[in-house]
Amino acid sequence: MANRVLPRHLGIIMDGNGRWAKKRGLPRSAGHVAGARVFKAVVRYCSKIGIEYLTVYAFSTENWKRPHDEVLTLMNLFKEYLRDALTNFLDENVKVRFLGDTSVFDPQLKELIAEIERVSENRTGMILNIALNYGGRAEIVRAVRLLAQDVADGSIRPGDIDESTLSARMYTAGQPDPDLIIRPSGENRISNFMLWQSAYTEYVVMDILWPDFRPQNLERALEIYAARSRRFGGI
Ligand code: IPE
Ligand code: IPE
Ligand code: MG
Repeated sequence: MANRVLPRHLGIIMDGNGRWAKKRGLPRSAGHVAGARVFKAVVRYCSKIGIEYLTVYAFSTENWKRPHDEVLTLMNLFKEYLRDALTNFLDENVKVRFLGDTSVFDPQLKELIAEIERVSENRTGMILNIALNYGGRAEIVRAVRLLAQDVADGSIRPGDIDESTLSARMYTAGQPDPDLIIRPSGENRISNFMLWQSAYTEYVVMDILWPDFRPQNLERALEIYAARSRRFGGI
């Protein structure tokens, strides 16, 4: 597909693992394991087709409400993924960043996060943002606090604050806003994902559970995106 309009920045809300497992009479953890496999395949595919920025929603600030054993499964899967990425994907040119408050994680996970950010720092290919303990509201609150501190320090005046000063204090500072956000699992909601950045993002909700998501589903979403008319308030 030559010359198609590709989003520069693609967001994915990886949703539906639990329902996928339930349908099969499996524990929710099995859905997360299957979802993690799909995540790996989708990252590779996006990097191959030339997506510049991919942001995946992996764990929200609200997901701590889940039963302890499910949270533990997810934390272990994140560790497994990062260990795997550190040993097996050294040849891939993907730069990994994390969006969210990662300071609360256990030392092992924090170390893996720091390590993958360090080893991938100078890579020049796709930027992969993994939203982990991420909430759009928490991100805005954090940005406002950073700005308030700058005002208190006298380095910025309240009247000089504009959209770009706030954008520069988001986790995505320096990156373009997402052009397209895909939500599988059929839920028509944003669930606290990239609230600030998605003012003019195109949404594609798909009736497929994340563990069933394949490159052809991504291609379908990209086709829908390419056919959209984005006006940004103009005509
Ligand atoms: C997404 O799948 C994974 C996370 C939120 C971590 P869910 O676990 O939300 O799956 P459903 O929505 O219950 O099916
Ligand atoms: C959004 O999914 C968060 C992630 C995919 C990480 P949820 O399953 O947590 O969202 P709700 O609860 O259906 O809104
Ligand atoms: Mg869900």
